[in-house]
Amino acid sequence: MRVAVFATKPYDERFLAAANGDFGHALTFFEARLDAGTAALAQGYPAVCVFVNDRVDRPTLEKLAAGGTRLVALRCAGFNNVDLVAAEALGIAVVRVPAYSPHAVAEFTIGLLLALDRNIARAWARVRENNFALDGLIGRNLHGRVVGVVGTGRIGALVARSLRLGFGCEVLAHDVRPDPDLLAIGVRYVDRHALLVSSDVVTLHCPLTPDTHHLIDAAAVEAARPGLQIVNTSRGALIDTRALIEGLKSRRIGGVALDVYEQEADLFFEDLSNEIIQDDDFQRLLTFPNVLVTGHQAFLTEEALTSIARTTLGNIADAESRRPLANAISARTVFG
Ligand code: NAI
Repeated sequence: MRVAVFATKPYDERFLAAANGDFGHALTFFEARLDAGTAALAQGYPAVCVFVNDRVDRPTLEKLAAGGTRLVALRCAGFNNVDLVAAEALGIAVVRVPAYSPHAVAEFTIGLLLALDRNIARAWARVRENNFALDGLIGRNLHGRVVGVVGTGRIGALVARSLRLGFGCEVLAHDVRPDPDLLAIGVRYVDRHALLVSSDVVTLHCPLTPDTHHLIDAAAVEAARPGLQIVNTSRGALIDTRALIEGLKSRRIGGVALDVYEQEADLFFEDLSNEIIQDDDFQRLLTFPNVLVTGHQAFLTEEALTSIARTTLGNIADAESRRPLANAISARTVFG
């Protein structure tokens, strides 16, 4: 099938082209993100392939539909950037990669937590300046601490398991569907409030939905155990950035590690080192010594990129051959 691949980076092209040997799609790579302004590039392509920060809203979908596109293939798990109701109304199917390598994200989450807690990034910056002083680098053992995991699906369950069995943490969890395997290893499910009040660390692994939007807001910061550390490798808008900044300023929040950021679409995946960043909230975040930010890279492993490429191209092949779309998402399945 002819596929317009948007928001392409060199690594996307490398892994998609390698996997396409088994599929034979005609892939055209565009560096531009898909939005209403760039949708014209997809004119005549029955399928588009997009990533997390492409804006697949109603105006974009209307332009795609007018240009003959019938399939949006997300090369990611999250689909909060797609207007599923509009897609369905316009007869455009949406497919995604529900699971590629939960290990990639889970391992990165643990890495971020350790780097934050043990000041690894700050220590490396010092050592590069031949500053071997240790003042200000005191961390805490993870062993014995209380970690709250919000969302115990594929990624959250791996994180919970690793923290519980590997590090010996007390693990609290919150999910609309508790996982019996986690219960069996001593993970305790509690409500969101109890998790915030009782945890030393909270790590977020639920999808971004109306219910989880700004899950960490001013009230949550107020309710949290003083000194709470937060790790977010899920979606930026789970956290109200301004509330987080206030929590950091008042020291109510003891540290934050973010791989995702509410307004990341304006920043991430690009080299902006010669630009003036206009996002004052983001710049303020970077000034705190106890904040660590990475640019949405938790998924970025050889294994995950291989798996993403194969599943995405397989999803497109299913659509082309009119086979059932096992990885389809629709407004009906999501919203009931
Ligand atoms: P999953 O669908 O396997 O698990 C999500 C879990 O969240 C489910 O158990 C679900 O019941 C739970 N959940 C849903 N609504 C909830 C609510 N209101 N409160 C508490 N729990 C709720 O998804 P998976 O694969 O574990 O991914 C989790 C998230 O990680 C994705 O939604 C995506 O946004 C993010 N992600 C980030 C990546 C990165 O590179 N930083 C890469 C891949 C995923």
